[in-house]
Amino acid sequence: MKITILGARGMLGRDLGDICRAAGHETVEYDLPELDVTDAVGVFRTIPECDWVVNCAAYTDVDGAQSHREEAFAVNCDGARNVARACARKRIPLLHISTDYVFNGYRNTPYAENDEPDPINIYGASKLAGEKAIKAEGGRYVIVRTQALFGRHGHNFVKAIIRLLQEKDSLGVVVDQVTCPTYTRHLAEAVESLLHLDFTGVIHVSAEGECSWYRFAREIAAHVRPSVEINPITSVDLGRPARRPPYAVLDKKRFTLLTGRKMPHWQQGLVEYLQEEGLLPAEGRQGEENG
Ligand SMILES: NC(=O)c1ccc[n+]([C@@H]2O[C@H](COP(=O)([O-])OP(=O)(O)OC[C@H]3O[C@@H](n4cnc5c(N)ncnc54)[C@H](OP(=O)(O)O)[C@@H]3O)[C@@H](O)[C@H]2O)c1
Repeated sequence: MKITILGARGMLGRDLGDICRAAGHETVEYDLPELDVTDAVGVFRTIPECDWVVNCAAYTDVDGAQSHREEAFAVNCDGARNVARACARKRIPLLHISTDYVFNGYRNTPYAENDEPDPINIYGASKLAGEKAIKAEGGRYVIVRTQALFGRHGHNFVKAIIRLLQEKDSLGVVVDQVTCPTYTRHLAEAVESLLHLDFTGVIHVSAEGECSWYRFAREIAAHVRPSVEINPITSVDLGRPARRPPYAVLDKKRFTLLTGRKMPHWQQGLVEYLQEEGLLPAEGRQGEENG
């Protein structure tokens, strides 16, 4: 297949390009500055004839969005609409990446695709507006909601914790936000598999299992520098500008039903990531207890 990837030099976009090419697809890749998704005319002119467009382009600074609402909506809502409109007119199916942050996270059971979104920060609101804009364009779409990404080609929690583990003897990490940390290579493989299906709609894709950021940091430390003390702190202690959902776990039953497989566990994703970064030998240690 010929696959056009937008946001192709971002953390997910880079892995997706690699995975698609390894699977034998031809990829056409765009990112800033050569293609700005907020430029409707440019988007229409640039998207070539192809089998799929995958939109990984986004404004992803969750805290920054609180004070840059217009920028976040321009990329995550208007940009998504521009891409969906061009795809609908050219009759190209669109696979778009969205987020768990469309949910408020106030309950304690995983969120299914049909659960009511209720974002509690600007980033989540802008991504939800993007989902609605895509649906309104009337073309074929797949919206993949995912969460807590870490990969080799971008800033992420794992990199930040590894740096802090080298600098400090104790760390405070938030314990009151639960998520499914997802390795971008695993997500990219899942996205590639969805391109073979005859499915239209929203689908949740993230790692199996769930943990707090505190638990995740302990697992990283167990592999990288176990002597560092990791202490639980609350979101209020951390004082970030954007609120985060306390329990943002995505239910993956639809993904398993459609593909016949489960996503790898977050602990496996972490081991593979650390191995790829050369921080863990191929036969790494086991980390902490299963979580
Ligand atoms: N990271 C996470 O934990 C997470 C969680 C849930 C969902 N997601 C979603 O997953 C997708 C990929 O995220 P990611 O972590 O790979 O993000 P990323 O590394 O920030 O990649 C996004 C890419 O989009 C580009 N971009 C920004 N504004 C653009 C514009 N106006 N036109 C074209 N390209 C533009 C960025 O370029 P610059 O770097 O130059 O700005 C970057 O290369 C996004 O849709 C995001 O909302 C991410």
